[in-house]
Amino acid sequence: MSWDTYYRGTGEPHDTRLPDPPPWRAFPRRPSPHTFQPPEGLTDAVNAAVFLHRPLLITGAAGSGKSTVIEQVADELRLGSVLRWHITSRSTLTDALYRYDALGHIHTLRIAQSEPRRRRKQGDIADFLQLGPLGTALLPGSPRPRALLIDEIDKSDLDLPSDLLDVLERGVFEIPELVRHSERRVQVRRWRGGDGRDEPQESRPYEVVDGRVQCHRFPFIVMTSNGEREFPAPFLRRCIRYDMPRLSVEALQSVVEAHVERALPPDAADLVKQFVAKVARGETLAVDQLLNAVKLLIDDQGPTGEQRERLIGYLLRNLSGA
Ligand SMILES: Nc1ncnc2c1ncn2[C@@H]1O[C@H](COP(=O)(O)OP(=O)(O)O)[C@@H](O)[C@H]1O
Ligand SMILES: [Mg+2]
Repeated sequence: MSWDTYYRGTGEPHDTRLPDPPPWRAFPRRPSPHTFQPPEGLTDAVNAAVFLHRPLLITGAAGSGKSTVIEQVADELRLGSVLRWHITSRSTLTDALYRYDALGHIHTLRIAQSEPRRRRKQGDIADFLQLGPLGTALLPGSPRPRALLIDEIDKSDLDLPSDLLDVLERGVFEIPELVRHSERRVQVRRWRGGDGRDEPQESRPYEVVDGRVQCHRFPFIVMTSNGEREFPAPFLRRCIRYDMPRLSVEALQSVVEAHVERALPPDAADLVKQFVAKVARGETLAVDQLLNAVKLLIDDQGPTGEQRERLIGYLLRNLSGA
């Protein structure tokens, strides 16, 4: 198979074998503990966060590897699957602690009232509650701290970092719907780690007593930021901070080799040098872009000649001011 046998733009259906994914685009996502190459100083920052039981705040450009750090740490320290909380301007702290589907609950109660045959036992509130990623990370009872990624916290509403800080300082939260509930003990579903590697006890519901959850051991938390905004000093002073540095040619070459699982041929090594030179000139480029370009360059089924040069040019376009 070759490049031109995929889409041709003729509207004529034809049989073709579609390409296999690059290793970093295969699903379900494979954990890649050996692919990530920690930049200088990162291991110390991670260990400081582990040692001091503080969250690690990683700042850096898009595609600098911020969201990937926690995967390697969780794998190496056997923290199980990573709980993920992706922040947007609509994210709230309550959502990260627990979710209560009030409408669904009311609807079910109405049906039960109108159809006595389908009446269900009292206390079914558990069906409509689920702990969020932060709520699950704070649960006691795991033999090891859970790993929690709070991704792109700089995209949050202004108050969220301070609200979050309060929960992280006190390590306790309440579910008001359960504080007032007639039953003292309610089994609540947990948030699931993204890669389905939860331990059996981490998939079972957690018994919340009197609507209160008290953390016994601080989770390992990585927060990431693209640096789109400043954080308040009280927030910063409670985090361990690390800025992702620019990678050198050598470091970047070993990152790419780890991903493509082979030594780079000379033209791909040149591409890495060009990439570093562009970044040094002030262009904003992400490692993902380089991986895409190298894949096109070294794969037998990729484009060739001028077509390939043009595509690589497109792939390595500046991310800012575009
Ligand atoms: N130091 C590194 N070692 C290995 N891969 C890296 C490194 N930095 C970035 N990458 C790769 O670049 C891609 C983007 O990384 P990601 O963690 O999503 O970046 P960010 O969260 O900073 O935007 C991923 O495929 C990741 O594996
Ligand atoms: Mg990211």
